[in-house]
Amino acid sequence: MKNYGNIVGWGKFIPEKSLTNEDFEAYLDTSDEWIYARTGIRVRHVVNQEEQTSQMAADAAKEALRMAGLRGHDLDLIILATSSPDYLTPPISSQVQHALGAKKTAAFTLVTGCTGFIYALATAQQFISTGAYKRILVIGAELISRWLDYNDRSTCILFGDGAGAVILEATEKQSGVMSFVLGSDGSKAEHLILPGGGSKHPPSHEMLENNLHYLKMNGNEVFRFATRILGSSLREAIREAGLEPEDIDLFIPHQANQRIIDSAARQAGLPPEKVFINIENYGNTSAASIPIALCEALESGRAKIGDTLAFVAFGAGLTWAAAVVKIIEREEQPRKSIWKLPILRWFS
Ligand code: UT7
Repeated sequence: MKNYGNIVGWGKFIPEKSLTNEDFEAYLDTSDEWIYARTGIRVRHVVNQEEQTSQMAADAAKEALRMAGLRGHDLDLIILATSSPDYLTPPISSQVQHALGAKKTAAFTLVTGCTGFIYALATAQQFISTGAYKRILVIGAELISRWLDYNDRSTCILFGDGAGAVILEATEKQSGVMSFVLGSDGSKAEHLILPGGGSKHPPSHEMLENNLHYLKMNGNEVFRFATRILGSSLREAIREAGLEPEDIDLFIPHQANQRIIDSAARQAGLPPEKVFINIENYGNTSAASIPIALCEALESGRAKIGDTLAFVAFGAGLTWAAAVVKIIEREEQPRKSIWKLPILRWFS
């Protein structure tokens, strides 16, 4: 009997502070018209000095756990997709595991840029289908604003911070990740890169003087790569799931650029009314963009239990990823444990 990983809980965290296109107009050579027409973005949210990636990830995960009626120690594994951790080491996944009270739960961080959430979902599905694990928390969390040069108009207007999380639970009913397509082309790595802080350009005065601690992007190259790869990846994922484009109830793409999303949907034969877009309000939140959009789609009723969803993303690497995911009714709610009584929680 095959095991599937049905999504039984979801949550998100969006920082309160926001930056509008008008905020950039006030000091940069840019305009609301240019930004909105070229990207579809009007607002993005950014953290304040006290907020960190681990806290955003933990807050999104706590919401997902609450919704699923689970606690940290019910989890068998945590996979956290991010390119913007609190520290190079220790792994942020262990920080979040501790913050959730998930004592001794296995946890690892997965770094594939903006495709991280789909890579993490596909990875989680492998652990579930082998029967190794039953409940896996998958998080996409990013705090790109700390690595942006706010005088570089070609990057700073694009990105926002945030986190989204889902819980996959083993079931024998067909659900969860029905198919996935993952890919990578390292020959194009320099088009989207944060050169400083790693082993090649470790922290130094020289690194700072040369601004190597900021994200650099050749936007046009990345744009062309994305419009070439996304449509075909999406079609392949739909085919692999044994489905036709008409069978997809909602397409939830990585929210990087409205024109890229339109092109991918068109190439995959998905009509505009089946595409979920929230880029206007958040900008590009990298690995967090799909789980945040998924939460909003489910909260607003655009996506429902029983739906078949398609995800697609591209990002640093350069990498790409697509997946078809089905969410079904949960078989049974977890038993109410006496340890959930507030007075007894302290002892558990
Ligand atoms: O998750 C993956 C992360 N990466 C991405 O999502 C990036 C994908 N790429 C893109 O979204 C687009 O390439 C951008 C939105 C970044 C840029 O749009 P574009 O249509 O590719 O513009 P471009 O780079 O070809 O630049 C066109 C012009 C240039 O001026 P000149 O050389 O023609 O005089 C840029 O300097 O637009 C200029 N420009 C701007 N003008 C006003 C670049 N950024 C801005 C800006 N405001 N913020």
